[in-house]
Amino acid sequence: MRLQDCHNFHDFRRMARRRLPGPIFNYIDGAADDEVTYRRNTAAFEECDLVPNVLRGVREVDLSTTVLGQTLQLPFYCSPTALQRLFHHDGERAVAAAAAKYGTMFGVSSLGTTSLEEARRISTGPQIYQFYFHKDRELNREMMARAKQAGVQVMMLTVDSITGGNRERDKRTGFAIPFRLNAAGVSQFAAKPSWAVNYFRQGAFRLPQLENHVDMGRGAMSISHYFSEMLDPSMNWDDVAAMVRDWDGQFCLKGVMSAEDAKQAASIGCTGVVVSNHGGRQLDGSRSSFDQLAEIVDAAGDRLDVLMDGGVQRGTHVLKALSLGAKAVGVGRYYLFPLAAAGQEGVERALELMRHELERAMKLMGCTSIAQLRPENLRFRSGGVG
Ligand code: FNR
Repeated sequence: MRLQDCHNFHDFRRMARRRLPGPIFNYIDGAADDEVTYRRNTAAFEECDLVPNVLRGVREVDLSTTVLGQTLQLPFYCSPTALQRLFHHDGERAVAAAAAKYGTMFGVSSLGTTSLEEARRISTGPQIYQFYFHKDRELNREMMARAKQAGVQVMMLTVDSITGGNRERDKRTGFAIPFRLNAAGVSQFAAKPSWAVNYFRQGAFRLPQLENHVDMGRGAMSISHYFSEMLDPSMNWDDVAAMVRDWDGQFCLKGVMSAEDAKQAASIGCTGVVVSNHGGRQLDGSRSSFDQLAEIVDAAGDRLDVLMDGGVQRGTHVLKALSLGAKAVGVGRYYLFPLAAAGQEGVERALELMRHELERAMKLMGCTSIAQLRPENLRFRSGGVG
């Protein structure tokens, strides 16, 4: 299978599956419990119909937008995700370069395998630093200071991961970091030799954001162990208010699902929220992000920029979320599978396809700018907000 044969999310996923050892593919593809929320995230878009306008003259379409003080050429961005160099040896570097080429934002995770400083050198475009709140307050302070020093524009605190989601696929495959060469591992490596060669070529596995705080030499760590042991479950609004004051810039909460929390975020000085359920990887049974978007946009008014992610696989999905008032739309697996399939080239192809799809959909809707997308052009099958 070649990259040119990939025309949508499902093609990229298929190509990634062929390239990756099973545990790594399933780490990306999986979600919590019965994966109901994961499926709902995408299904929710299909419950919403588009009502186009015609004869409006749509030769030129402008996809640019401003969100969290950043000007983007595209209204969608690469949401921060962990461990990208396990998926492809270039990892975060490939994503940073592709996002820069397309004039959009990307995020580096606390659990990133490339340092936020290195990502910054690759892309001078808008960069998000995704932050988890650790028990170790020194580590928290150090990370904020590093991000400031590196010139990161947007601080994004993930608030939906106070404890690890129940990722049963990872339990079954024994997925842990660093990826170990145990008895099961040998056959996984042997089955995917080109992945294995690249993995070894990249040298020691690193988590540069956590350096000096996690000893990777001591043995493999499961992701749920990281969440349960290193993150602080007592994190509360006062802690976040203090961080917002310290950061003194664009500060966004990722994983806000209630209107009440969005109002609270505004009241402590956050500049944005991401309506997100972590791609269904945390609380299974949580409502889909898209279904929850309208009420959060309403609660936020003009006090916060509202972003969303979860289940976005098509230009029309982006268009629907923007029509409900999202300022930008994040994608996760939509760029991770292309990354695994073909590195930077794969991510670029995914962004290119999404750009084309969105541009086409906007023309067919009779719109030439993001500002023209309105909820009046949506109808919900179940009688929801529209
Ligand atoms: C994630 N996500 C995530 N979020 C975060 O705040 N910090 C992180 O380190 C990660 N890591 C991560 C790894 C993988 C493999 C996935 C799939 C997701 C969640 C991510 O930012 C985003 O919220 C979801 O991926 C959006 O859902 P879709 O687009 O994948 O359906």
